Amino acid sequence: KENVPTTIVVFGASGDLAKKKTFPALFHLFQRGLLPKRLRIIGYARTHMSPEEFHKRATSHFNADISQDQIKSFLQHCCYVSGKYDISDDFKKLRKEIESQEQALECSQSSNRIRVYYMALPPSVFVDVATQIKHNVYDSDCINRVVIEKPFGHDLESSRKLSNDIGALFTESEIFRIDHYLGKEMVKNIVTLRFANVFYEAVWNRHYIANVQITFKEPFGTEGRGGYFDEFGIIRDVMQNHLLQVLSIVAMNQPNSLSAEDVRDRKTEVLRRILPIQLEDTLLGQYVANADGTKPGYKDDDTVPKDSITPTFAQCVLHVDNDRWRGVPWVIKAGKALNEAKMLIRIQYKDMPNSLFPNLARNELVIQVSPKESMYIKTIVKEPGLSTNLAMSELDLTYKTRYHDVKIPDAYATLILDVLNGDHSNFVRSDELDEAWRIFTPLLHQIEQEHIVPTPYAYGSRGPEGAYQWTEDRVGYKRTGLEYHWEAPE
Ligand code: BG6
Repeated sequence: KENVPTTIVVFGASGDLAKKKTFPALFHLFQRGLLPKRLRIIGYARTHMSPEEFHKRATSHFNADISQDQIKSFLQHCCYVSGKYDISDDFKKLRKEIESQEQALECSQSSNRIRVYYMALPPSVFVDVATQIKHNVYDSDCINRVVIEKPFGHDLESSRKLSNDIGALFTESEIFRIDHYLGKEMVKNIVTLRFANVFYEAVWNRHYIANVQITFKEPFGTEGRGGYFDEFGIIRDVMQNHLLQVLSIVAMNQPNSLSAEDVRDRKTEVLRRILPIQLEDTLLGQYVANADGTKPGYKDDDTVPKDSITPTFAQCVLHVDNDRWRGVPWVIKAGKALNEAKMLIRIQYKDMPNSLFPNLARNELVIQVSPKESMYIKTIVKEPGLSTNLAMSELDLTYKTRYHDVKIPDAYATLILDVLNGDHSNFVRSDELDEAWRIFTPLLHQIEQEHIVPTPYAYGSRGPEGAYQWTEDRVGYKRTGLEYHWEAPE
């Protein structure tokens, strides 16, 4: 594949996503020799920029320790075209640029040429740009791939419209919908963990599992992104996509094979068994300034309307109505401006039947997606030494200590590599997306129509007061004694 001539067009090349994620990911792959040798990267955006300015922006988020020589050799593959997102002539100019680059790669006639159109763009211009690409840039004599980023719509109806509009222009096999959580190491690991280890899969069901929690916590607020965020809120920003995608992989049955369609069939199948979320199974919060006023509240952000009731925190209970999971509550929880950065999956097992020991704490399998990729199984042992007391300990697999020299790539790098290889396994299919919106849309509409006011919580706190108790009461999560605390080994 390294010889396949490839052109990657990054739309929105001067924007935040491109600067912070797309270009650094492309560079990461380039550095490791994983990009095709015959490669052109073309930035496209509205801003007029000299090549030097474009180079400066594209590399502005590269790690500081990277040598200038390496950056220089990467930039030799990159150029920039400025143009509007709805003007045909601008896209014709882009087409000319692509063609001349393809000529330079001596591949303009070859049918195995790949063109990747990466839309690092706001959703308001998705369809305009997709239409322009199809009419003025697309070449049916080569392989065309379109990468789009969430948000894919606002609710079920708008998402269907977007899918129809884009689907009228490109085939499903040409479309790669990015959910970057699917590119994270520990998320990609779930399939292996579950289906390559007999002792996980054997107890991965309602007979042994009491409840599952999927948690996303960020220690910062909207800081400058309030304008975008306020339109969406935490449910649309993180839960309907990232957390539900993770849930579907944890919950799905074994696919027939590892092919993209088999995996996505299973994920969609399990999503179909999830009932729409009820408002009474939901707790909403919005952060306010912390007690000493050093951290602002959500509504102190100038880009947020002063009367906003957009949730910045939410936790919901979901039910998967199939034989494997009936009766097991799933909690998904996400919040901004909380006490720590953490994304994890916590599977709590049921009490030991007929236990020899009274008042046993419960086993848990915790998969920590970030920071510090790790997993541990909370395991009860005899207290070491002369004591016969029991103690909660853990079987620990912390990647840093186990895999010293491995550098875990950024999610975007692995996903771009998948796009180049034409592998859809870690991208969201349109029927999956439809199911995800079906699960959340009634709740989102009800919150909006009934003007549900979120509970305030202080910036840097653990969320609205009572949020932890809420989980214990609702889903029967049993806390291990307070004396137990897992720390990633240094
Ligand atoms: C994005 C959300 O999709 O994911 C952001 O829009 C969020 O609000 C981000 O901060 C979290 O991603 P990560 O990779 O930093 O956990």
